[in-house]
Amino acid sequence: MKVKNICCIGAGYVGGPTMAVIAQKNPDIKVTVVDINASRIAAWNHDDLEQLPIYEPGLDKVVAEARNRNLFFSTDVDAAIEAADMVFISVNTPTKTYGKGKGMAADLKYIELCARQIARVAKSDKIIVEKSTLPVRTAQAIKSILHNTGNGVKFQILSNPEFLAEGTAVADLMAPDRVLIGGEQTEDGFKAIQALVNIYATWVPQENILTTNLWSSELSKLTANAFLAQRVSSINALSELCEVTGADVNEVANAIGKDSRIGPKFLKASVGFGGSCFQKDILNLVYIAKSYGLDAVADYWEQVIIMNDHQKHRFASKIIQTLYNTISGKKIAFLGWAFKKDTNDTRESAAIYVADQLLEEQASIVVFDPKVTKQKMQSDLNYLNTRSEEDNAQYLTTVPEPYEACKDAHAIAILTEWDEFKTYDWQRIYDQMQKPAFVFDGRGILDQSQLKTIGFQVYVIGK
Ligand code: UDX
Ligand code: UDX
Ligand code: ADP
Repeated sequence: MKVKNICCIGAGYVGGPTMAVIAQKNPDIKVTVVDINASRIAAWNHDDLEQLPIYEPGLDKVVAEARNRNLFFSTDVDAAIEAADMVFISVNTPTKTYGKGKGMAADLKYIELCARQIARVAKSDKIIVEKSTLPVRTAQAIKSILHNTGNGVKFQILSNPEFLAEGTAVADLMAPDRVLIGGEQTEDGFKAIQALVNIYATWVPQENILTTNLWSSELSKLTANAFLAQRVSSINALSELCEVTGADVNEVANAIGKDSRIGPKFLKASVGFGGSCFQKDILNLVYIAKSYGLDAVADYWEQVIIMNDHQKHRFASKIIQTLYNTISGKKIAFLGWAFKKDTNDTRESAAIYVADQLLEEQASIVVFDPKVTKQKMQSDLNYLNTRSEEDNAQYLTTVPEPYEACKDAHAIAILTEWDEFKTYDWQRIYDQMQKPAFVFDGRGILDQSQLKTIGFQVYVIGK
């Protein structure tokens, strides 16, 4: 079967870039990305590519090439579903904030709404592709909704988890380590799998396209994120031990990473991992394990999150303790708010939790981040519900320029590893700060000896 018309429901961090690349590489397929959020769609359609709703290096070029050729962004969800032979579901699956599984299970409300909408609208057979990260066996639920509420048309369900990382989304999509496609192990299932394989095969080498059964594919996504997050928590756990023993976490990471069984990547000690996936997916894994009665398995993976919370907490406590156990009324400059560099995404960013803890001690925080808006920072804090929105707005402010953020500050905390932070005139920053001038490098990106020579008191995680 040759797919001619694709619809993707959800124009977010996953749906937007993925469909842009699929459209760029398959000019003969019409790709329509739909979303109920009209302002998001308007931003995707904006003439000025700087206004795209997502910042990803290289994304503007891909969108410029494909948009209005065979890539379209629209709010007309029904029309796009009806016209499509293949529908990607790429809506958000946040952690549940209510009811059974609150704080752990994935909230599948948006997925179910999509499935019901597809069932209602579809008048011809379609392949449905799960792109959002989903708990294992979600395809069963989607299938049941589609078959029981539809117009009698046939659906095949595929799982095709996305492994791109934010900040490198375009590069990851262009040259993925692997593409994973899970489907039913039946004749129709194999045909559907092949239809999706063909789309990726226009640019991904065949040997990097893996096909599995549905459940392996769904579970592999959660497992990959759990393993990656576990590496960060493992090195972060060691960073605390390094600080008390005189070992240097970078030297330890380098030494162990040379072992090809361990490998050098994902061993950077930090203030803690963030992002929309790691915590959510591990919580999901823990919830699933518990729901099968596998308590030892659940506890094992939960420890990765406990360690991550500890690391964020520890960083904030270090700041408070070093500033003579009182930061009330002191100005603390934050460089960075995003959960990693090269993205404007702040979901689960360590900065939010560190800020919240410092605000509890009545600090006054001034943030500079090259890509994150003030509104986003405020809504991140307000979401925690620790204090009133007015207090958040009063005690955490945002400036558009780093030197202003650091002026008269008692301390600077690095929360995101933006490259530009390394290039600042640190002597100028020092001259304008309160003394003693403290730097807390939560990402280990600055030249510690240079800062010390200038006169800074420096704390770096794991040293
Ligand atoms: C992750 C997975 O990498 C990706 O495959 C999946 O599709 C989605 O989830 P993402 O969350 O975008 O991607 O970013 P990632 O690069 O994995 O970083 C996650 C967090 O871990 C960031 O906060 C990052 O700063 C932190 N991290 C990562 C470290 O602290 N140390 C490291 O060595 C690596
Ligand atoms: C280990 C370290 O590998 C080596 O670097 C160190 O110097 C000594 O300890 P060893 O114990 O001889 O070496 O064997 P290793 O190959 O690491 O296996 C250890 C155990 O893990 C074995 O029981 C092995 O069967 C098991 N294992 C290993 C698995 O169950 N799965 C794997 O994927 C790898
Ligand atoms: P991700 O990181 O998984 O891409 P995002 O939150 O960035 O998550 O994107 C998900 C998008 O899906 C949001 O823009 C949201 O408006 C959209 N969405 C959720 N439910 C529906 C729906 N039923 N129909 C259309 N779009 C939806």
